[in-house]
Amino acid sequence: MKLDILIIGAGMYVCGKGTDGFGTVLPAIFQWNKETNNLGNLYCASTTTDSAKNFSKKCLELSQAFETNLVPHCFPENDDQKSKSYKDAISHMKNPSCVIIAVPDHLHYEIAKECIKADLHLMVVKPLTPTYAEGEELANAVNKANLHGVVEFHKRWDRSNLILKEKYASGQLGDLLYSLVEYSQRKSVPQKHFKSWADETSILQYLGVHYVDMMRFITEAYPQRVSATGQKNYLLKNGINTYDSIQCHVEWKTADGNTFIQTLLTNWIDPEGTSAVSDQKIKIVGTKGRIEADQKDRGLMMVSDESMTEHINPYFSMSYSAQDSSREWFGYGIDSVTTFLRDISAIAKKEVTLQRLKKIRPSFEEALISTAVIEAAHLSLKNNSEWVNVQNS
Ligand SMILES: NC(=O)c1ccc[n+]([C@@H]2O[C@H](COP(=O)([O-])OP(=O)(O)OC[C@H]3O[C@@H](n4cnc5c(N)ncnc54)[C@H](O)[C@@H]3O)[C@@H](O)[C@H]2O)c1
Repeated sequence: MKLDILIIGAGMYVCGKGTDGFGTVLPAIFQWNKETNNLGNLYCASTTTDSAKNFSKKCLELSQAFETNLVPHCFPENDDQKSKSYKDAISHMKNPSCVIIAVPDHLHYEIAKECIKADLHLMVVKPLTPTYAEGEELANAVNKANLHGVVEFHKRWDRSNLILKEKYASGQLGDLLYSLVEYSQRKSVPQKHFKSWADETSILQYLGVHYVDMMRFITEAYPQRVSATGQKNYLLKNGINTYDSIQCHVEWKTADGNTFIQTLLTNWIDPEGTSAVSDQKIKIVGTKGRIEADQKDRGLMMVSDESMTEHINPYFSMSYSAQDSSREWFGYGIDSVTTFLRDISAIAKKEVTLQRLKKIRPSFEEALISTAVIEAAHLSLKNNSEWVNVQNS
């Protein structure tokens, strides 16, 4: 049973726009199709013909790498800048079908709403939405329409995080006391890649949200209240009105009534010379034990006369040479997208129910929890770092 897929957005995460690479979403679709041969038509909707052309070029290069021939249908088709080109794309799609939405954070809500109206199963990149009210509306809408809606929280597929979850569940850490997360990216992310929308989001919403979701995933606890501080310095001086760094404390409560604090230290003004795009570390401390994961330094380092020191993450979204002469992509970023595509095929073949999937995937309901934390942190920032209760917890 062939599946029509629409990708909305053609940026860095979809196809590596502005980089030498291919992003994550597009290689994942190629990898899934290599394994299943289940792709019907691939559609992509962006806002300009330039980005449509760039997407087609990346498809051609990936086709060569995978030794296949995948020709996408791209929108908009003419030179007008079109923010509704995804509606044209949707009108061409045949069932079974699904959509992956990878547009700037503040556009997730409106576009996801339209896709639900068009009866499409959907994956939205994180965060689900910037506000709880928007996310709740989407969660209700997918339920009402009997659709599968998930958020692309790929860290749920990172084996290092699966070990954190198992160690916590085994009781070896005891009752949790606190957890510390440090997560940062280079200055070029807000200044170059997201220049047009960096001031519509925050470093906590764009990046920190991953480890808020991770704490939920590991402990199944609910967030209670949030206090946040932040600094506007470098980016503001350089014309972008957003925080350089946000520090945030989240109080969580587990099912057995234990409370603990998660502290997140985030920034996106790391020097360009830092040895990885993402600097990411987590530690979790309980009454009986501690567990620490350096998720930047995965034990693979490269330096040469031509290049600076680089810490390579072989586990996120990486290309490897296959047994034949072609290439393959593996990693938790790839797994999160291919799992969604496999689930959609299974739904079409009636091999799995939506209720079952809701229990085991990052559903919209699950994503509401991290969205509520982000919204509370933004409110705390506006109110002199006061503690803010998290909605619906
Ligand atoms: N870059 C990453 O590593 C990464 C990782 C995970 C999730 N994300 C999330 O993915 C989303 C997009 O990030 P990105 O890195 O690709 O950003 P980007 O700025 O590189 O790309 C955004 C894309 O969205 C398109 N777009 C904007 N409005 C549109 C509309 N109305 N219709 C169709 N397309 C539209 C733009 O043309 C552009 O192609 C964000 O929510 C981000 O938080 C990014």
